[in-house]
Order: sequence, then structure tokens, then C-alpha cells
Amino acid sequence: IQTEALARISAAEDERMLEDARVAVLGKKGSLTLAAAGIKDVPKEEKAAVGQLLNAARTEITAALESKQLALREIADRAALAGIDPTLPGRPILTGALHPLTQIRDEAIRILRRMGFALADGPEIEDEFHCFDALNTPADHPARNEKDTFYFDSGKLLRTHTSSVQIRTMESATPPVRIIAPGSAYRRDEIDATHLSVFNQLEGLYVAEDVSLPDLKGTLEYFLRELFGTSTEVRFRPHFFPFTEPSFEIDVKLQVKGQAPRWIEVAGCGMVDPAVFDSINKGRKDDAFNPDKVTGFAFGMGLDRLAMIRWGIKDIRLLIENDVRFLKQFA
Ligand code: PHE
Repeated sequence: IQTEALARISAAEDERMLEDARVAVLGKKGSLTLAAAGIKDVPKEEKAAVGQLLNAARTEITAALESKQLALREIADRAALAGIDPTLPGRPILTGALHPLTQIRDEAIRILRRMGFALADGPEIEDEFHCFDALNTPADHPARNEKDTFYFDSGKLLRTHTSSVQIRTMESATPPVRIIAPGSAYRRDEIDATHLSVFNQLEGLYVAEDVSLPDLKGTLEYFLRELFGTSTEVRFRPHFFPFTEPSFEIDVKLQVKGQAPRWIEVAGCGMVDPAVFDSINKGRKDDAFNPDKVTGFAFGMGLDRLAMIRWGIKDIRLLIENDVRFLKQFA
């Protein structure tokens, strides 16, 4: 039985033939199974010896079946792989990534939220009161010019800065107020490598009892060092904004790739002008923003500019063109 079985196993050309061979020997009516059933007719003294022979035959046959099966599988696998080069590199899986503006905005928000600033927003279609008057910007101020600002026939306008959100927030909130407002701003600028008619700002406002200039400096220094690196030098340069007094522009000393380090302007800021609080108070019954009771600071920065500085982007238009060759670099 064993000799015959082993011959049949080694002659099997595929798994099907091998399975037939297995059934013929080890199946319910297989030759070895039947032989084992016949052991009851063997004389008592010979039973042990015959049993041992049967077991040895079963072990050998089983082993032969297993190794033949592995060999047949290997042959089948090789055939399946014929014509395929398994050393070729795999095809890359295409994934999306966040736009650089989104990345820098989210990073700025994350830092400021850790410091206790909450998100606020306001409309992009604004009125002159929230964009200018309440921000102590007189009617003859150049920023209000039709040449610089998009006006609608209704007299409304596209906000020229996110500072209008300062007013919107103070109209309804009660101090202490600590908000940031990222959003679009619009100006009638000639479009070139550093100007678009729409850009992205991030506004901040902190109003409470005894907010002081050192609070402003400490907050913004910390923020900019979180954003640009802990050893970044930060400088406050006196400036003018109608709605803050004193006012500053903030520069950071940065090394743009391949250039000598230099001071780069990144934000405007200042202590909220009491005239702004007065115009808020006029519209409220509770006197909550009485300049004798509260002080505050405000800041605003261009996110497009921050992204351009961070990554050495030379043309702002790249930020809106959605050219995959450009965007791929920020994945
Ligand atoms: N709104 C100013 C601008 O657009 C920036 C600014 C915001 C300055 C808040 C001071 C305080 O240039």
C-alpha cells in the first residue's frame, strides 16, 4: 500500500491529482483505512506489530502528501507571477494636503487659543460704521477712498481689514474680551507679486481692566517666537493707526533662504484708542467699555505675508492659482 501510495503522490501533476491520491489511501474507503479496519482479524500476538506497520505507513504517506503539496503550490505561484516584475516600485497613493495658507492660519490659531483667545467673526460685506467710523477713522481718511475700497451702490463695502470684527465683538460682549478673528479683507490694489484684491488677515483684541503695553508686547513676542522659532528677534516700531494709540508695526528678524538675515514687517498693533471705546459705549446702555474702566490692545496681521515669509514664496498669486506643482511642495 505504502509503495503504491508514494508512487502515486510523486506522480501527481497538480493539487487535484494529489487530492485524489490522498482519498485513495487515507479516505473513508482508502486502502490504508481499510487495512487498518482489518486489524481486528489479525491474531492477537501479531496485532501490535501490524499496528506499528500501519502507523509507520500513515506517517510516511502523510509527510509525502504535505511536501508534495508545498512543491505543487510553489510551482503554481511561479506560474502566476510569470510576466510580472515583483521588483518594480509600487505605484504611489495620491493623497491631499492642506494649503499653505490653511497650515499657517491653523498654526496661528492654535498658538493664540492656547493663550486664551477665542475665535470670533463678522461679515465681509460691512458698513462704514464698523469698518471706519467706530474705528476712529475720519471721513476724509485715504483708506476710505473709492480708489482703495470696494463700495456697493447700497453704500456698503467689502471690509478693508478684519478690525471691523473688533467693533462687532465689543458691541455685544462684556469685558474681559479676548478674541481672534481670521478672515478675508479686500482692497482695490494693483495686482502684482505682493498684492491681490483679496487677502487674509488675522485680527486680535484683548480688553479688560488694566491691560497694558507690556501685555501687548509679551503676548505678541511669545506668539511670533512660537511661530518662527524661540530665538527669533522681535521689534516694535512706532507707527500710526487711527484706532490704536500708541501704535506699532512689528518686525521679526528672519533669514529668508539664501539671503542675509533682515527685519521683516509682520503685523500692526497698538493699545485700543479710547475714542473706539467711546463709540462702542454710545451704542450700549451698560457703559461696559468705559475707557476709565477698561483698556485693551489689538493687533492685525497678513496671513498671506506670513506664509510667503515662512516658505520663501516670491509671488502671492501662487497662493490662489492652485497649481498642483506648487501645492505639492507643502504636503
Ligand atoms: N487693521 C490694520 C491693517 O489692516 C492692522 C491693525 C489691526 C493695526 C489692529 C492695529 C491694530 O493694517
